[in-house]
Amino acid sequence: MSVVIVVGAQWGDEGKGKVVDLFTERAEMVIRYGGGANAGHTLVIEGQKLVTHLVPSGVCHPGKSCVLGDGMVIDPQTLLEEIAQCQARGLLSRGELLVGLGAHVILPYHKLLDALREDAGAKIGKAIGTTRRGIGPAYEAKAARKGVRVRDLMKPARLRELVLANLDELSPLIAHLGGQPPAPAEIERWIDDALAAGRALLPYTGDAGRHVAHAIADGQHVLFEGAQGCLLDLDHGTYPYVTSSSTIAAGACQSAGIGPTAIDAVVGITKAYATRVGAGPFPTELHGDAGDRLRKAGGEFGATTGRPRRCGWLDLPALRMGARLSGMTSLALTKLDVLGGMSEVSVCVAYTVDGKELDEPPIDPDDIARAQPVYTSFPGWEKLPADARDVSDLPGPARAYVETIERLAGVPFCLVSVGPDRTETIRLHDPFA
Ligand code: GDP
Ligand code: IMO
Ligand code: MG
Repeated sequence: MSVVIVVGAQWGDEGKGKVVDLFTERAEMVIRYGGGANAGHTLVIEGQKLVTHLVPSGVCHPGKSCVLGDGMVIDPQTLLEEIAQCQARGLLSRGELLVGLGAHVILPYHKLLDALREDAGAKIGKAIGTTRRGIGPAYEAKAARKGVRVRDLMKPARLRELVLANLDELSPLIAHLGGQPPAPAEIERWIDDALAAGRALLPYTGDAGRHVAHAIADGQHVLFEGAQGCLLDLDHGTYPYVTSSSTIAAGACQSAGIGPTAIDAVVGITKAYATRVGAGPFPTELHGDAGDRLRKAGGEFGATTGRPRRCGWLDLPALRMGARLSGMTSLALTKLDVLGGMSEVSVCVAYTVDGKELDEPPIDPDDIARAQPVYTSFPGWEKLPADARDVSDLPGPARAYVETIERLAGVPFCLVSVGPDRTETIRLHDPFA
């Protein structure tokens, strides 16, 4: 029996979808534990691409149990569309999906508020650059103990009472932010749509916490799929430029309702460089042509929103921070191929603030703005061979790059990904072993 958590070690989009798909070969159950449809996880199998937003990325392995944990915020319409999309591909048709009844629900007014706040923020240069999927407002409602949960979608009177009470409070805020508060007929439509979604989702719902606990007690291999990345964590990330959930490994226990003693391994995923979508500090960001080249080479456009991702050099202090926050036992390095063909590759190995050297990024937002990255440069390498499946297949400079960053990160690598496809992988160590 092994329980493994996969987390993004950076600002999201590290390749969690690909790695979770690979690890699911060895797992019986895969659980998405936080966030919602702000996530976009890409799987490429024999050239066929699938992007999951809510459904766990283990979905392409028939017969494996896919669970949406109670800590998630679920947009029921998006989930139904995704289930339909999967079933059209012959997936999820054997009762593999279980949606936690305790998960919170994103309703149209959460998305409306998210968008209005972003628009208002943009006018004063303070937008977060959210995905506008209603994540923040839904988690706010949860923390205020006014949220709508999946179980409420099956209780018409309760749902109505909750939605009306929420909108009674939120309508003045919607108007304050320049929006049009919903008319009674629109509210009724939202309630009807939510109830219809509840009826459609009913066969997939259940007690996710007990389901996961039983699998662990039965000795199954269980995989937790993180969303976003450690540096977007609500408590420990680059606040306020973060998401509204716990993205670090501890979030898996919290969301699924299992104790930390059940966890055997934590795998962090990091790109061989760095990206970020939305606003917030990114000290190693490359601007102009250099950033554009990396964006083009890596296809760095959001899997959820299509936004261009900001691109820059690998930030080892930030990676160390992610490894510390999540207690990573190994790292998966992705997108090494993207750096192929560059004359030189740089890595930030430390920061200096007021002449003091730091091995993790400073926490205070003002210090981050003043922090100077200290770079080490590596000689570049040619395009990686398409069939690299072993470290010895890598050109010497690429191998030296991998070995050096593994040493400087202080966490051993369990795989190196050299292309988007499932097969384009150098496997070093099985986290379930
Ligand atoms: P996630 O949110 O962490 O699952 O990552 P995304 O799916 O948002 O973004 C990662 C992107 O990189 C996707 O388009 C993947 O298909 C792609 N990808 C993953 N690993 C590799 C790799 O090793 N090389 C290349 N070139 N692309 C990769
Ligand atoms: P995956 O799971 C990258 C970012 C947004 C924004 C901030 C807050 O695919 O790695 P939110 O909509 O959550 O309120 O936005 O968080 N963000 C992501 N960035 N990958 C993601 O998910 C993200 N989910 C949220 O761009 O900066
Ligand atoms: Mg993504």
